[in-house]
Amino acid sequence: MKGVKLELDLLGDRRRTHFCGELRESHRGETVFLAGWLARRRDLGSLIFLDLRDHTGTAQIVCNLETGPEAHEKAERARPEYVLGVEGEVVLRDPATVNPEIATGKIEVKAHKLFLLNESKTPPFPLDDEARTTEETRLHFRYLDLRRSRMQQNLRLRHQASLVVREHMSGRGFVEIETPFLTRSTPEGARDYLVPSRVHHGHFYALPQSPQLFKQILMIGGFDRYFQIVRCFRDEDLRADRQPEFTQIDVEMAFPQRAELFSIIEELMEKLFALIGVKVPRPFPVLTYEEALERYGSDKPHTGLRLEWKRVALAAGAAEKIRVASPLKALRVPNGASISRSQIDKLQEMAQAGGVEWSSAIKVSDAGPQSPLVKALGEEAVREIAAAVEADVGDMVLLLGLKPGDASHGRLRRLDEVSGEIRLELGRKLELIKPGGWCFLWVVDFPMFEYDEKEKRFAAMHHPFTSPREEDLPGLDSNPTTVKARAYDLVLNGSEIGGGSIRTHRRDIQQKVFEVLGMTPEKARERFGFFLDALDYGTPPHGGIALGYDRIVALMAGESNIREVIAFPKTASAVDVMCDAPSTIEPEQLQELGLEVKND
Ligand code: AMO
Repeated sequence: MKGVKLELDLLGDRRRTHFCGELRESHRGETVFLAGWLARRRDLGSLIFLDLRDHTGTAQIVCNLETGPEAHEKAERARPEYVLGVEGEVVLRDPATVNPEIATGKIEVKAHKLFLLNESKTPPFPLDDEARTTEETRLHFRYLDLRRSRMQQNLRLRHQASLVVREHMSGRGFVEIETPFLTRSTPEGARDYLVPSRVHHGHFYALPQSPQLFKQILMIGGFDRYFQIVRCFRDEDLRADRQPEFTQIDVEMAFPQRAELFSIIEELMEKLFALIGVKVPRPFPVLTYEEALERYGSDKPHTGLRLEWKRVALAAGAAEKIRVASPLKALRVPNGASISRSQIDKLQEMAQAGGVEWSSAIKVSDAGPQSPLVKALGEEAVREIAAAVEADVGDMVLLLGLKPGDASHGRLRRLDEVSGEIRLELGRKLELIKPGGWCFLWVVDFPMFEYDEKEKRFAAMHHPFTSPREEDLPGLDSNPTTVKARAYDLVLNGSEIGGGSIRTHRRDIQQKVFEVLGMTPEKARERFGFFLDALDYGTPPHGGIALGYDRIVALMAGESNIREVIAFPKTASAVDVMCDAPSTIEPEQLQELGLEVKND
């Protein structure tokens, strides 16, 4: 046969008797057939040692020129990542060569026959636990990268997690129902991925940013409890915890009580984290959005970092002297007196760069407070500020403030955000976050609307289908910024791992919310007419949540990037470098779709 390598062996009807990583002393004397990839080869002349790898681990194979000349000859030809089959006998290793580092370290397989099932080019990077190459190369050769035990573990953990989710949710009466991928745009705040229709030129499907409206319609359709492990698509700026397509554990229930939903989700977290041997403390603490911003400067605080901001009001006249608006935000840094001047300068520069123009610091020493503020305010006033945050000798107090007359809603928000960034930076610098902690919390009572300064209109902070709190309904007309939403986020170690809400189930309120969002009745009808119509037919009170599955699995796997728990992720510029997507398409395809590409 021309062009076919006859020197390669065929698998024939041979079947694996064991996996490489499962052989132990108890298998001694058994004849086994293993198959896998050649991880390493050591040629000592008449003896050749092969480390054969499959997803369970490696086994050492010995090929002896004297007792198995044919196997030895093939072992001479084998190279890393060749696909091999081995028939041989399990024997105990010589005590001097026992390897306590690996589970199969006490045995080896004496090869009777070796089968060269396929060759491999030399891999562009070693397939060790630590990836010793660029991420771009790993993604380009993802099939090799996936052979690394770390990727094997991560994706297998992901699979285990999906079993736990399905078992738990269906045990609680939730039914998994698939919703369409080719659909209409749903607003989750990102841009849509669009799919042109061949049959209806000029018409486009949108890939769902989430199944939000479908799950609500399922409630109207009488499916009391729904869940789905579902892909969502969002064209947004990417970060370590964001992918253009990602997976949610999407949940919705009719007649919901928030406490009941929280308990179902907390129990799910408990079961998921049991997979990695972690006992999750329950119930999770609940914090309001206001409190989270005030104390941690973030709506997804890492509460394992025990640094908390406080608002400190200045005594009459003091604010004018130092030209700042009262109250200040103050942070006690335990043992922070040892932080160097230049480090403090850096934090103050960070504040400045973030748009917070006033900042200062106090170090508390035996000799009294040391701070540039002492000169303007006197020692006693500075001592009082330090006392307001319970600072002890050896501590530092960091202060942030706005210029007088500068306390607009937007500026106060900025102050909170900057205080959050500085808190995290200090935590990182001083290594205040202990590894191995699992700090879950719920953040509740988000504002319903955010004012978009650029667009000069209100936008929904969560999404427009979230219900305003009943007591805040009058505010929809008078002052939308005061309206709180019945929304909640689930946060773990500073990462937002879920978000949801109790929904609006009445058409009149839904229409009112659209109105506040600046949508004319015609526009609302055009975009969501089908949904508004559905609300007319006996919509039960309902609510739910969506959990970020990739983020949860990444946290469980100890990975800081969700790409490490996704088999075929995209790069930060939304490219699949393995199959080179997105790509151009044939002119005929464009024509069929009625599209023309403008090159700008
Ligand atoms: P939300 O937009 O908050 O809510 O999304 C829910 C959770 O999904 C995760 N997530 C992402 N993960 C990876 N890459 C992304 N680009 C990405 N975007 C979001 C986050 C987030 O908390 N329909 C509502 C849910 C509801 O109201 O029930 C929704 O999608 O962990």
